[in-house]
Amino acid sequence: MVAFLLLILLGKLLFSWRFFPNLVYKKLKSNGFSGPQPNFPFGNLDDMKKQKKLDSSANLVISHDIHSTAFPFFAQWQKLHGKVFIYWLGTEPFLYIADPEFLKKMSADIKGKSWGKPNVFKLDRKPMFGNGLLMVEGEDWVRHRHAITPAFSPANLKAMASLMVDSATNMLDKWASLIDSGHHEINVESEIIGTAGEIIAKTSFGINYENGRKVFEKLRTVQITLFKSNRYVGVPFGKFLNPKQFLKAKKLGKEIDTLLRSIITDRSNKPRSGKPEQDLLGLLLAENTVEGRRKRTLTTKELVDECKTFFFGGHETTALALTWTLLLLAIHPEWQKELREEIKEVIGDGEIVDATKLGGLVKMGWVMNEVLRLYSPAPNVQRQARQDIQVDNLVIPNGTNIWIDVVSMHHDENLWGKDMNEFKPERFKDDIFGGCNHKMGFLPFGFGGRIDADDVALTM
Ligand code: HEM
Repeated sequence: MVAFLLLILLGKLLFSWRFFPNLVYKKLKSNGFSGPQPNFPFGNLDDMKKQKKLDSSANLVISHDIHSTAFPFFAQWQKLHGKVFIYWLGTEPFLYIADPEFLKKMSADIKGKSWGKPNVFKLDRKPMFGNGLLMVEGEDWVRHRHAITPAFSPANLKAMASLMVDSATNMLDKWASLIDSGHHEINVESEIIGTAGEIIAKTSFGINYENGRKVFEKLRTVQITLFKSNRYVGVPFGKFLNPKQFLKAKKLGKEIDTLLRSIITDRSNKPRSGKPEQDLLGLLLAENTVEGRRKRTLTTKELVDECKTFFFGGHETTALALTWTLLLLAIHPEWQKELREEIKEVIGDGEIVDATKLGGLVKMGWVMNEVLRLYSPAPNVQRQARQDIQVDNLVIPNGTNIWIDVVSMHHDENLWGKDMNEFKPERFKDDIFGGCNHKMGFLPFGFGGRIDADDVALTM
């Protein structure tokens, strides 16, 4: 009996590590896609690590041409195999895409709910995202989006804006007093990450709750721990190559779930008087209840996963974008001047920021877009095909993992022209695509019906 069970297990493992990936690979190759030669069980991970090492030892000249520095392996493979090719993470083949026209054709007939997210990442990032919006698929994704979108109505965002202004003002006051007392060096990145985390903790679960702070700190640790343990994504038993980090992330993930569950239970049991609390959790709980009865739009487990997803999805992306903005403005004083004048004109000199006036900061919008283009906080977007996809006379088979290289497209001379690596916010004047000659060449918030939840809310 044991031998029989072992045989079945072995069969299953062989199917998922060898048979299925090779089947997808063969189909892709027979459709004309090529790519670097993989080896079992690491795929192309070794080549990727080697090239990273080589490049990090090279003398770095400061330049905005980040693709060849941050992703030297993709830059190298592009030269050999073009802008669409196959590479492997462990035993998982990925179709790499840095061609917006191919992307357009591939996504033309696929609705947001029909896209999958690679199973290999879902498993890997479970302690961070669970089955929240970023990972959920199909009808469940539609249900989650419907439950969450009202929480981002302009009225709710306005209420959250004052929490954001408070945290940002505290951070700036702290910087001012540090400078006054003779400290001339501030670690801007870690300061902004802390502030963005605080804002998300407040706007997601209400920082006033003592546990909210604990969740925030644990979530950050789990992220750092997972990053350390994630060097062998796609390799069979890859987690066990770094067992200490893997077990730590798993344990922390469980602790976070327990904490969030208790916050949710406390708040659901609290007698509600009048308006719901103006944080994401308060708004979702109010959505979940109709006249005192549970509507159960989202289960408690789903609420836990959404709180985690919003924390991760919301704080680091925003913090990175702001940090790069400050750096780019520091080296471009002419744009500091432009923005100061615009702020004085639209918001007023020394006035408290009124969220409804933010839309009037047009040049600020150009600067933010240019930062998102040059230093995209989400450098790539991943999908998994849940059906065969036809692109001209080629077929991407059901089950194929897809890797879209956003950084490559944002720095492509064919799309942006010779000045593609220069900071030029004015390229967004009168053109929301920044003069890119393909509408899918600028993708800071993703693509294909699953664009950023936050972005959708803002366009409501
Ligand atoms: C500069 C800021 C941000 C950038 C660049 C960014 C970028 C992205 C990208 C590229 C995706 C992936 C979309 C896809 O798979 O196609 C995404 C999804 C998502 N982001 Fe953001 N994001 C930002 C801010 C935020 C904030 C502030 C929040 C929450 C408060 C948030 C919540 C989410 C969620 C929930 C999703 C999943 C949406 C879905 O699949 O339905 N993001 N974001």
